[in-house]
Amino acid sequence: MTYSVEEVRWLAENADAVAEAEGLEWSAQSRVRDTTALRERHGDHARALGELVAARRSAVQGGKVPAGWLVCGDSAQQATPAVVAAERADHLADVLGAGGGDGSGAGLVVADVTCSVGTELQHLAGRFGTVVGSDLDPARLAMARYNMAQADLAGTVGLVRADAVHPAFAAGAVDVVVADPARRTARGRIRDPKDLLPPLPDLLSAHRGSAMAVKCAPGIDYGDWDGQVDVVSVDGGVKEACLYTPELATHRRRAVVLRAGQRRVLTTDDPESEEVGDVGRYILDPDGAVVRAGLVRQYAAALGWRRLDPHIAYLTGDSLEVPQGPGFLPGQRVFEVLDRAPLKRLKAALAATGCSRLEILVRGVDVDPDDLRRKMKLKRGRGAGGGRALTVVVTRIGDTATALIAEELHLRG
Ligand SMILES: C[S@@+](CC[C@H](N)C(=O)[O-])C[C@H]1O[C@@H](n2cnc3c(N)ncnc32)[C@H](O)[C@@H]1O
Repeated sequence: MTYSVEEVRWLAENADAVAEAEGLEWSAQSRVRDTTALRERHGDHARALGELVAARRSAVQGGKVPAGWLVCGDSAQQATPAVVAAERADHLADVLGAGGGDGSGAGLVVADVTCSVGTELQHLAGRFGTVVGSDLDPARLAMARYNMAQADLAGTVGLVRADAVHPAFAAGAVDVVVADPARRTARGRIRDPKDLLPPLPDLLSAHRGSAMAVKCAPGIDYGDWDGQVDVVSVDGGVKEACLYTPELATHRRRAVVLRAGQRRVLTTDDPESEEVGDVGRYILDPDGAVVRAGLVRQYAAALGWRRLDPHIAYLTGDSLEVPQGPGFLPGQRVFEVLDRAPLKRLKAALAATGCSRLEILVRGVDVDPDDLRRKMKLKRGRGAGGGRALTVVVTRIGDTATALIAEELHLRG
């Protein structure tokens, strides 16, 4: 869902109507009544008001944009979380030498060629002297114009309507190009990079020779990428892979783990552990950014733990010293292993634990967790453990499917 340019203009000029809409209840029970009230007072603009309230709520609560910005449903959904946008702006500025607090960034120019409502522009403006935003969609640009004024950046950030595959600036006129092609249409998620909006190959060839940062889906196959790939997670959820051209690379790949104000980075240049070994007292499910960035061996080395299997991402170890150390990779899931059993003996092994709530994690084995749970026939709240919540990790170790019965530990961090 989005607005026409006329609707954006109306929303920008009618702050009282927006405040009135935001003051309504907007619960499942009140929605029809709220919409009717807005329609009576604001006619056809009621639809845009309703959309703004919902989109703002989700974008502000999702840590994407500041309160008071104009966003529509689609742009709220597409917006980069502020912590990720700030991470990108910091990396670019640090690599290009714009940081340092001595004003040396003043001479550098960055262009966000798919700027949407300006989410990333505000972070880039914090680190670069000149910031230009462009987008194909005039309604998005109109929202960006309003938002930059809200952020007191109207005089700092230039905005222009342009197709990202036909650059609005001469080659060499900007120091770095940032792009975030849309990965979803009304028909659903786009998987092929050449179907992105704008298409990734076209984008890269249009800006060939420029330093570029391109935000992509975390699942993209970046095996052949020539520069750096950052896989970024926020509070345990993998948000994006960002491709940096070679002049912006400090490593081949990085996992950037952002959680509750903490930031940890693992890179391809960190020491690796090749050790693979038997199940220890604990197992750990690495953050998705580590797994997707292919840095499980680096993570094993950092923990002093080992892999259960060369092709499976779980790590195992016997001491909690490092995972409990000074906040290394915050929020990781660590389990204490209580028992292990072949799949056909799992039901009997579980019965002895008194487990009544079961989480089943499956990796590298063709097992349907729901089927398996049904077969366990757990009884609610019965047994020696008095209704314990346990996790069964079904994983392949070598050629054998093994079930590890485990209890999650709630470590700090
Ligand atoms: C995923 S959104 C960008 C979101 C933005 N980075 C943010 O954090 O809010 C993609 C944007 O690309 C724009 N777009 C699509 N095709 C384009 C093209 N060929 N040239 C310029 N912009 C385009 C869309 O209008 C949309 O605003």
